Amino acid sequence: MRLRRSRCLTCYWHDSAFVVHPHPHGTPTALHPAAAEILAAFEEWSTPDEAAGHLDHLTPDTVEDAVEALVRSGALLAHGSAAAQLDERIAGQWGAWMPEASFFHYATQDVYDSPQAVDPSGEERDAGAAGSPGPERESLPPLFTGYPDAPRLLLPRGPAGLGAPFEQVLYDRRTHRDFTGAPVSLETLATLLATVFGPVDFIDCGRGALYRRTSPQGGSRQEIDAYVGVLGVSGLAPGWYHYNGLQHALELLSEGLTPAEAARLCADQSWAARPAFLVVLAARLERMSVKYPTPRAYRVCLLDAGHLGQTFALTATALGLGPAQTGAFRDSAVAGRCGLDNTGHTPLYVLAAGHPAAAPQDAPPPAGLPAFGATALLDGRP
Ligand SMILES: Cc1cc2nc3c(=O)[nH]c(=O)nc-3n(C[C@H](O)[C@H](O)[C@H](O)COP(=O)(O)O)c2cc1C
Repeated sequence: MRLRRSRCLTCYWHDSAFVVHPHPHGTPTALHPAAAEILAAFEEWSTPDEAAGHLDHLTPDTVEDAVEALVRSGALLAHGSAAAQLDERIAGQWGAWMPEASFFHYATQDVYDSPQAVDPSGEERDAGAAGSPGPERESLPPLFTGYPDAPRLLLPRGPAGLGAPFEQVLYDRRTHRDFTGAPVSLETLATLLATVFGPVDFIDCGRGALYRRTSPQGGSRQEIDAYVGVLGVSGLAPGWYHYNGLQHALELLSEGLTPAEAARLCADQSWAARPAFLVVLAARLERMSVKYPTPRAYRVCLLDAGHLGQTFALTATALGLGPAQTGAFRDSAVAGRCGLDNTGHTPLYVLAAGHPAAAPQDAPPPAGLPAFGATALLDGRP
């Protein structure tokens, strides 16, 4: 039988054990680190005897036992098997995203098929009823992030002015990259922050209070905090602030932010120099992991960030602002400017808004015949 190392394979140390973890369907298996060398001998299709020829410092028994374990785990695949074909298809599809993205995706897939599955409902009392003991009260992270020693500005709480018809807001929402440069009023920023990030109500989860926002959030964990980089807001000095949703206040973390720095932080995108403010969405991971100790919950953090981003875009539109967002930013530098440790508290998404330019320079033209002619619209058509 000819065997080859799975192309979809990640090896790591976990709790001092060396683990080979093939995806999507392999079994994470703790083995002696020599397994890595044995896997390397199966870089191309080889019989165990051929591979053993490259491993003459190991005894034939050691190689044989390891090969058996590696086949069982799915790290070594048999030529012509369905698993080998799937392995090749995944390697082809995920290409340059491998191994980081494919490993995370598949290693966190189908977790609900295992007996240790977490309750997907997100309801804390359900998990309690299922018998999983919760963490001690003292160890629970606080619902809100706050910087008690920071200078703070309590924000105005005027009428929201969000009466624009829903349909109009939905279809008017566009990503803007061209702004007038006029400052945004403090009232408008305050309304946007309260609407997107402030608490709407508080619920009893069976072991204490949680709060809900205008966006759905996995298990109502509200693990995402908002940090505001002010460039042009009336009455606010440029700099970095944390939005304290409990107090509806901005807490000053560091003074100074220039358009050039904003663009640099957003991976040198020139439009990012022009909005009136940036909003960094940063996950405080412990708020999520204390309830969901499965790595799949990290997906939920990313999904939660997306929901907040959409609510931000719609609310900004309803307030007459032009919203923007970017997944391209210098994570470590952004974390540094927001005062995040970038370990348990880490940036996920950068949003922005300002007064939109009347005739944006960079608005894409509508697609015409040449564009459609150059586009495959359906599977199987040229
Ligand atoms: C998650 C996400 C990341 C994005 N990242 C960028 C970005 O890095 N730079 C950029 O100019 N636009 C970015 N955009 C904006 C998209 O290019 C934009 O949404 C798309 O062109 C569709 O236009 P619309 O938002 O006006 O409908 C991003 C949008 C999303 C949802």
